[in-house]
Amino acid sequence: MIAIKHLTHRYDGRDEDAVNDVSLSIAKGERVVILGASGSGKSTLLKCINRLVEPQSGSIEINSEDILKAKKQMSERIRGKIGMIFQNFNLLERETVLANVLNGRLRFNSALRAVFGMFSKQDYHEAEEQLKRVGLEGLSHERVSNLSGGQKQRVAIARALCQKPDVILGDEPVSSLDPKLMKEIMDLITSICIEENITVITCLHFLDFAKKYASRIVGINKGSIVFDGKPGDLTEKDIVEIYGKTRDWYIYGRTGY
Ligand SMILES: Nc1ncnc2c1ncn2[C@@H]1O[C@H](COP(=O)(O)OP(=O)(O)OP(=O)(O)O)[C@@H](O)[C@H]1O
Ligand SMILES: [Mg+2]
Repeated sequence: MIAIKHLTHRYDGRDEDAVNDVSLSIAKGERVVILGASGSGKSTLLKCINRLVEPQSGSIEINSEDILKAKKQMSERIRGKIGMIFQNFNLLERETVLANVLNGRLRFNSALRAVFGMFSKQDYHEAEEQLKRVGLEGLSHERVSNLSGGQKQRVAIARALCQKPDVILGDEPVSSLDPKLMKEIMDLITSICIEENITVITCLHFLDFAKKYASRIVGINKGSIVFDGKPGDLTEKDIVEIYGKTRDWYIYGRTGY
């Protein structure tokens, strides 16, 4: 479903590639966790997939469409099917929960309607349904800034689900939360993605978490893939290879969470 070939990106002014010749084929419904030390290129890889970063070379196909070559309109359409969940939630804090979740419906509306926030009955219905699903029923008119971290991340999940996504990308979706909430939110994302057969690619820091929620782990070190396999196949040697004997290895890889 997602075919990444020889993807390479180096940021301006840097002397090393952030992503270095990454090739990866991901089937529909896989739950891929990307592991790697800080600065290894996890976020850059995700940003290339949703085109927040234009990679310098390589290709990314989603459902056989080359998204890097796609014209603007088509690229918007493909992007519309990619839900994003970020560590810092990326919500409109001053807006209501409902307004944020409705943003997930933009791709179902014309640009003009979207600008004026003219959503259809169906859009409202979908937003309320997804809010119910993530456990936020009754909070639609609350301002996002009044919510807790866990609730905010639930809003972001509902927004992503409203897009009817083929893929959900999560850039450390639980890193701002305490351990109990981390588990709750990962359980929620995972159960919904399994139920709806949504492909999910998340960067996570904690090894134990990765093992628990991934159907496949991809380890990267300095922009290159150094492990690709099932969580059960990950050995101590692989773990050192992924993190290096860094502070990250000590914190996340060695002791778990
Ligand atoms: N906008 C940018 N401009 C220049 N260099 C960048 C930029 N963003 C990231 N980098 C560099 O690219 C490399 C990969 O960064 P990236 O953010 O992808 O790593 P990461 O694995 O997500 O790290 P973390 O776990 O800390 O989030 C790092 O060396 C980083 O300094
Ligand atoms: Mg990152």
